[in-house]
Amino acid sequence: MAKAQRRYVCQACGGVSSRWQGQCGDCAEWNTLVEEAPAVVTPFAAKHDLRRGGRTIDLVALDTDVPSPPRVSTGIAEFDRTLGGGLVPGSATLIGGDPGIGKSTLLIQAAARMAAAGHGVTYISGEEAADQVRLRARRLGLGQAPVRLAAATSVRDILATLDGGPPPALLVIDSIQTMHSDAIEGSPGTVSQVRASAHELVRYAKDTGCALVLVGHVTKDGAIAGPRVLEHMVDAVLSFEGERSHQYRILRATKNRFGGTDEIGVFAMGGGGLDEVANPSALFLTQREEGVAGAVVFPAIEGTRSLLVEIQALVVRLASGATPRRAVVGWDSGRLAMILAVLEARCGLSFSSAEVYLNVAGGYRVADPAADLAVAAALVSALSERPVPVDAVAFGEVALSGELRPVAHAGLRLKEAAKLGFERALLPAAGALEAQALAVARFGTLGRLVDHLLGRG
Ligand code: TYD
Ligand code: MG
Repeated sequence: MAKAQRRYVCQACGGVSSRWQGQCGDCAEWNTLVEEAPAVVTPFAAKHDLRRGGRTIDLVALDTDVPSPPRVSTGIAEFDRTLGGGLVPGSATLIGGDPGIGKSTLLIQAAARMAAAGHGVTYISGEEAADQVRLRARRLGLGQAPVRLAAATSVRDILATLDGGPPPALLVIDSIQTMHSDAIEGSPGTVSQVRASAHELVRYAKDTGCALVLVGHVTKDGAIAGPRVLEHMVDAVLSFEGERSHQYRILRATKNRFGGTDEIGVFAMGGGGLDEVANPSALFLTQREEGVAGAVVFPAIEGTRSLLVEIQALVVRLASGATPRRAVVGWDSGRLAMILAVLEARCGLSFSSAEVYLNVAGGYRVADPAADLAVAAALVSALSERPVPVDAVAFGEVALSGELRPVAHAGLRLKEAAKLGFERALLPAAGALEAQALAVARFGTLGRLVDHLLGRG
């Protein structure tokens, strides 16, 4: 006889525990365990012998020709680019992002464009009333698009409705955390509800060949709320990022079974919804003025595109005694500490009695160590109050020894810089480089770069 047990499921990681605890034993999050429907434990003896009764499966060679999956364009080039060329019929895509970042806006725009192109599109909103969605679409000038719209949260009702007609090419579920499956106990948004609802919807997509897009909320620390298992159930996971206070939004793939995960889509949120940004560099470069100390342009790489961002440093000398602050926006604070240490230890500069602020303009986040050199140059410039030429870009990695190391995609970075009118580049001495349209100054060590910036030698 099956025996029911109490079980507590962590709402952050999906870990299961047999008793309630304040802290999840798997992911160490606090207050995330919630009692969920009991698991049915089947005694081992009752299980079937798995070596009997199975069907044989065709095994094929690894080098069989596989046609690349067909794609349906969303009508939004930046969205298609992130997906690897468009939506794949029968696939499931999860889009995560902070509330208010623009997920619903992006999807209603894509839904309208696809519907206008003649594809069947069904948009299910579990968060907003149908009128609200319609109003927004009208405000965006999309009111005429033949999108089939409903406000619903019952997965059973949604599937019954869908089964009553031909399957759509695109099914949007906004959001998966509001969906409810009556096959399972628990309120919407719990791990088991999210999992069960997603499972049914993904199965519908696979069976009918419709492309399913699920919206997922994101928790404080940036993970898609609900279980990690959701990420395993879908074919692609996209995250929609940006600072709400800034205009730009980046759509990034973190998982993609049908394409790469290094392409991004760039959008700007405006009065008319999300606009595609084909040339992102212009968005992140602030109005550049001659003669401002502490600003250096860094050519970042996103996928196959280079994107120029301005790195800004401010150094404020303190009267002795107070502990100086270090504050970073858009870059890693540990890495800033490292660059400061190398500047002190290898180049004889002292920041110890000064406050240091570092900011990446436009709210963009840089994770690439290639920004080391630009950060170091910005810090030296801020400390010495000598501006770095306004037409210069800088990139390269700084080693603890003070050596400058070459980084990937140097050619691509320089090409983008030249395209936007930059005329010189500060680079590591090491690494091969093709002939460039820019004047290139190369330095073996950070010390050499500092000498150059301070006009010594
Ligand atoms: P929304 O798509 O509702 O976000 P999400 O679904 O990710 O929660 O976006 C809402 C935000 O976008 C809201 O703060 C207002 C802003 N917005 C604009 O600035 N312009 C527009 O044209 C629209 C539709 C929204
Ligand atoms: Mg929304």
